[in-house]
Amino acid sequence: MPVLVVNVDHVATLRQARMGIEPEPVTAAYMAEQAGATGIIVHLREDRRHIQDRDVRLIKETCNTRLHLEMAATDEMQRIALKTEPEMVCLVPEKRQELTTEGGLNCIGREQELKDFLAPVHEKGIRASLFIDADPKQIEAASATGAEFIEIHTGHYADAKKIDARNVELEKILKGIVLANDLGLKVNLGHGLNYRNILNFKDVPGIKEYSIGHAIMARAIYVGIDRAVRDMAELIRTFAD
Ligand code: PXP
Repeated sequence: MPVLVVNVDHVATLRQARMGIEPEPVTAAYMAEQAGATGIIVHLREDRRHIQDRDVRLIKETCNTRLHLEMAATDEMQRIALKTEPEMVCLVPEKRQELTTEGGLNCIGREQELKDFLAPVHEKGIRASLFIDADPKQIEAASATGAEFIEIHTGHYADAKKIDARNVELEKILKGIVLANDLGLKVNLGHGLNYRNILNFKDVPGIKEYSIGHAIMARAIYVGIDRAVRDMAELIRTFAD
């Protein structure tokens, strides 16, 4: 059955707005787990705009489920991953000016570079995922890096304003899932997913995890984290294997 992993970056975003101590992403992670999240995700950005190093450390120490660390493929982040030992690292592209991760990682022509980057990660028993667009060439390149997972970028699908454009993006993702599975990759989905647009994946097999942050934290403002996570986890529990 596919599972929900909850991204708590936006709890840290709110805390960093005042550079204070609340809200506490560690508490939010605990509450998300209690409400049915199968894992917690944090993105430690190079500019530390939301999640801080201590958040990663404390969530790893207190996590009852599993911690996924999203990060750029830099030496600094590799050091942190090897020290923290999350369940999984997810490599993402990072630009300082972007509001959020804007596109997938480019794997084409970087297969060996990424393989070398992931080698020490794998030696520690940490699994690896690559956040990529649903482009067949990217998926093929990703399969040559030794990563066990890809996370298909659903942002273009989620952001599409018109139904036709959305369907085009959906079709690309559906084809990408099949190709990735055929190549032996496990598939996660993430970015921009919410309580409505996720429903198009309900009957789609071959998806392991949904990585969701913003929609859950936005709903949590009105109904609380427990209800917001529970609603999403219950929805995903009805999805195809
Ligand atoms: N997956 C990746 C790789 C991301 O960068 C993000 C955003 O931090 C997400 C999933 C979650 O996206 P959202 O917050 O839109 O649910």
